[in-house]
Amino acid sequence: MKEGQKKLTALLKLAKPIAYVILLLFTYTLGYLSSPPTPSPSPPSSSAVPSLLQLPNLPTQLDHFRVTTHCADPVPSQLVRQTILDLVFNSTSPFINFPPPHVTKLLRAKRVKGWGSNGAVFEHLIKKVKPRTIIEVGTFLGASAIHMVNLTRMLNLQTQILCVDDFRGWPGFQDRFKDMKMINGDVLLMYQFMQNIASANATESVLPIPFSSGSVLDKLCTWGVFGDLIEVDAGHDFNSAWSDINRAYRILRPGGVLFGHDYFTAADNRGVKRAVTLFAKVYGLKIKLDGQHWVIYSA
Ligand SMILES: *[C@@H]1O[C@H](CO)[C@@H](O)[C@H](O)[C@H]1NC(C)=O
Ligand SMILES: *[C@@H]1O[C@H](CO)[C@@H](O)[C@H](O)[C@H]1NC(C)=O
Ligand SMILES: *[C@@H]1O[C@H](CO)[C@@H](O)[C@H](O)[C@H]1NC(C)=O
Repeated sequence: MKEGQKKLTALLKLAKPIAYVILLLFTYTLGYLSSPPTPSPSPPSSSAVPSLLQLPNLPTQLDHFRVTTHCADPVPSQLVRQTILDLVFNSTSPFINFPPPHVTKLLRAKRVKGWGSNGAVFEHLIKKVKPRTIIEVGTFLGASAIHMVNLTRMLNLQTQILCVDDFRGWPGFQDRFKDMKMINGDVLLMYQFMQNIASANATESVLPIPFSSGSVLDKLCTWGVFGDLIEVDAGHDFNSAWSDINRAYRILRPGGVLFGHDYFTAADNRGVKRAVTLFAKVYGLKIKLDGQHWVIYSA
């Protein structure tokens, strides 16, 4: 994480001189094109000029961090689970014949650990939004997903929870989870997550989507899978949080709520707080706080 931060700083330092060089080249080219020997029929369009003038400020031009804004038309809530099964799992629930024999002995009946997973924010938001689709970005062992299943059951909601995670933890996470097994470099997090979901009798309410958050959120946009409630709790460095929040916001249903943990954490140079703050500023949205969580209501 620190490494990433350093890289960004180095990049920003680099970006300014590069921007100047680009500007120079551009002005040179423009000067060349509009020089007397070839009287240009039309002057460069006026819209091209401001963008040239903005080049020296390249590092601060947020436009470059923008994600495409148009997603497919929304899939109806009741078809979300089948859509994911079809497009990710070859139309077969990954919970069928689970666990496979070669990992059965390596899993614990239930091994749940989370951070802030039972915070009151979940109950507040689920009661308020009554979500049909919840997208959780950053799931780990499923503690908060199971808590949300409990809440939606108590409220008699028909809710599908999509758990987006690469299920790799982070490099060396076993230092803190010494009981967790590894086979040939695979850390078995997805299987232990699925085992936890099975122990909670929640295999019909929850689906893992076991790929990196950026690639999944992009696909959900392409497929038109939107969330009424989206929890962003994956990478806490600025770049990860910024990317996840922007991608998540695209697939937030109008009237939905985006929220996440660790608003106050000092880890990763307060990456979460900086990303949330910048995001709210850019979109003109208000940040609300609920315990350790940040909450943003869609405009
Ligand atoms: C997907 O399902 C079809 C039909 O059941 C099967 O023939 C095919 O082998 C499956 N593909 C994978 C990758 O499992
Ligand atoms: C969910 O509900 C079950 C059964 O009522 C309970 O055993 C479990 O502790 C609850 N889990 C969470 C995370 O709230
Ligand atoms: C799951 O279902 C089994 C069998 O019906 C039941 O014994 C168990 O208490 C349930 N567990 C939870 C957490 O609801």
